[in-house]
Amino acid sequence: MENILEIKNISKKFGDSKVLDKVCLKIHKGEIHALCGENGAGKSTLMNIVSGVIKRDEGEVILDGEAVKFNSTRESVFKGIAFVHQELALCQHLTVAENMWMWSIPNKMGIINHKELYRKTEKILENFQADFKAADKVEDLSVAQQQVAEIAKALSLDAKLIILDEPTSSITDSEAENLFRVVRSLKQKGIGIVYISHRMNEVFSLCDRVTILRDGQVVLTAKTAEISQEKVISSMVGREISEFYPPKASDKEDGEELLRAEHFTGDGFNDISFQVKKGKILGFSGLVGAGRSEVMKALCGISGYKSGDLYFKGKKIHNKSYRDAIAHKICYLTEDRKKNGIFLSMSVKKNVSAAVLNKLTKRGVINDNLENKNADEQIERMKVKTSSRYQLIGSLSGGNQQKAMIGKWMAVNPEIIIMDEPTRGIDVGAKSEIHFMLRELCNQGIGVILISSEMPEIIGLSDEVVVMHEGKCMGMVTGEDITEDNLILLASGHKLA
Ligand SMILES: Nc1ncnc2c1ncn2[C@@H]1O[C@H](COP(=O)(O)OP(=O)(O)OP(=O)(O)O)[C@@H](O)[C@H]1O
Ligand SMILES: [Mg+2]
Repeated sequence: MENILEIKNISKKFGDSKVLDKVCLKIHKGEIHALCGENGAGKSTLMNIVSGVIKRDEGEVILDGEAVKFNSTRESVFKGIAFVHQELALCQHLTVAENMWMWSIPNKMGIINHKELYRKTEKILENFQADFKAADKVEDLSVAQQQVAEIAKALSLDAKLIILDEPTSSITDSEAENLFRVVRSLKQKGIGIVYISHRMNEVFSLCDRVTILRDGQVVLTAKTAEISQEKVISSMVGREISEFYPPKASDKEDGEELLRAEHFTGDGFNDISFQVKKGKILGFSGLVGAGRSEVMKALCGISGYKSGDLYFKGKKIHNKSYRDAIAHKICYLTEDRKKNGIFLSMSVKKNVSAAVLNKLTKRGVINDNLENKNADEQIERMKVKTSSRYQLIGSLSGGNQQKAMIGKWMAVNPEIIIMDEPTRGIDVGAKSEIHFMLRELCNQGIGVILISSEMPEIIGLSDEVVVMHEGKCMGMVTGEDITEDNLILLASGHKLA
């Protein structure tokens, strides 16, 4: 097999911590190669080195037979590397087409040929059956649409090597199917593909081989046809995981009502009623775009609602701003951590303090000792992998950023916590830790609302599930009735028999 990429003994340190340790990896022409590993294992860092985003300390990179050392992403693009980054990185104020052709905008003597630009872009978007246009501004797209645009952008480059870092974390199943179709056709053309994912089903259905990184070292490379899922997982986390989900709340005790929404109606949702109970996890299921996040934003005062009532412990409330919601100890962990709530260029400490500054302030001044104590507590509780409380949160791995953000809201001591896709981009080990932690919070008397597009997560965790379809509540299932068949039926707009 001819290699498109050969990585030889790459090492990298950040400060004192060794993030990559003599990593070797070969990617064949015409193969899809999964790169797996826990959050912080070094997957993105390795690919950032290959594509010139950051510099290596040691080692060699050989691209299509030629030793290369890129000083910028631009250089690697022109040598045939396309990289879809884990965090969305499109220019918000430009159109989809302008983003897509950033590297080579069609022009005549410096004047952009917009007609040509849009025509070429529409052709590519068609291949993805995208539901947005080349002339749309990126800032007007949903997270899912942006991810599709970003993938389309990379695939439009005439690349020899394509790196996809968690490409399906926020797109719908049908968009993912389109992606898989396109990726398979690129493989047929002899292109090498590195596919970073925490989703085992994608690793096994799409990829030919898998390499596992643990603490910056390669522990294993194997053909996916010759290795079991259990083996991949245990190599990643260094232990067997037998239970991914904690036991559910007991049926006998009907938890005290914490929050009740009645006939909640607003932009994107209509006549939604539900109850959040103490000690229970209420799942919200449905397709991406069903209106689940809109309901939560309205409930928390982030956006308004037109009619309906909200009761907190039996008392009518109206959260006019998110501040009101926090005052009622209702916290909302949004699905898009980059847009809301996270300050990438600030430390972990500052980020986890942001929601509780009033508690950490003495006579109008933030007390450093209290702030440190709070930061360390949340880092410890959430098992955030960070060099210290002072590390910039933007330099943590994706999954660890997410854990820190959950810590931020835990500091509020919420009575109700709303988690919108809380384990997106989180490795299987940390994911099960978060699941157990959510149940533990419930057992301590908190009510949890869980929005998740991952069916196994909803089924494995929820005590009750509300299913939404096109802004409406299709039904509510509990206990034994929380099955994949029932949820799919309701999510696609049918009633249960
Ligand atoms: N710029 C940086 N400064 C300091 N440390 C960094 C920087 N970038 C990455 N790291 C550290 O390097 C380690 C590897 O991070 P990396 O992002 O490569 O992990 P990953 O395998 O991609 O994880 P995830 O699955 O969460 O995306 C982490 O411990 C991270 O904190
Ligand atoms: Mg990563």
